[in-house]
Amino acid sequence: MTQTQTIRPPRDVVSYVRRGSRMTDSQRRWLERHAERWSVPFQAGPRALSVAPQPALDLSALFGRQADLVLEIGCGHGETLTAAAQLHPETDFLGCEVFEPALASTLGKIAAGGLTNVRLLAGDAQGALRHLIAPDSLAQLWVFFPDPWPKTRHHKRRLVSAAFADLAASRLRLGGWLRLATDWPDYAAAMVEALDATAALTAVPAGRFSERPETKFERRAHQQGRPVQDLTYRRIDRPAPARP
Ligand SMILES: C[S@@+](CC[C@H](N)C(=O)[O-])C[C@H]1O[C@@H](n2cnc3c(N)ncnc32)[C@H](O)[C@@H]1O
Repeated sequence: MTQTQTIRPPRDVVSYVRRGSRMTDSQRRWLERHAERWSVPFQAGPRALSVAPQPALDLSALFGRQADLVLEIGCGHGETLTAAAQLHPETDFLGCEVFEPALASTLGKIAAGGLTNVRLLAGDAQGALRHLIAPDSLAQLWVFFPDPWPKTRHHKRRLVSAAFADLAASRLRLGGWLRLATDWPDYAAAMVEALDATAALTAVPAGRFSERPETKFERRAHQQGRPVQDLTYRRIDRPAPARP
């Protein structure tokens, strides 16, 4: 190393890449018109899309009522989130997503459906879960088709890990549901290994989640002959403190 080189601190591994945020005219319009009304404000961390340590969200203030909360991580273009919100007006839904055009599409669906029980969080789900969601507070946590990071050297970027399983369990209330789906068999196996090893979770043989509409990721899996696996777990016990 030359004298002018500096040693950089290791960067946190995140489960997303910063993609371009080129948007259609409609997406731009939805973002301009609706982002302020439906976005959850939070204090950003030093890294793009990261969430700084801060007090957890006041959910009653955010939604203007007390209701069960479902958090969907990586809600993409909001097909599942908005369909569920339409079907369950008695429940509140929070979508967490880092890709701005997808957030814009979700805003379009919220506005078109006149939904009042959905909010969007434009930031990294790991930090959002850790800092914005209070322990024992979620009725359900959904993770459908998380980015598979198929290359072995990228597996460390996968969202669902042992640490994630601990954190997720700690944010679910007793009896709360964790629902996941993936079309990557080795990722499904890794998820099962991490979740089965989490004492505060128990597997439920539930099959395909009926409220999950088919999105392009599932369609593509079928076209390419990859089976889709739904995994369902319930929070059963007091979780151990989340690993750092
Ligand atoms: C493969 S897509 C699936 C989208 C949607 N769940 C579906 O089934 O259509 C994965 C999504 O997760 C988002 N994502 C990945 N890592 C994330 C993170 N740490 N926090 C929030 N969103 C994330 C990506 O931007 C992407 O939109």
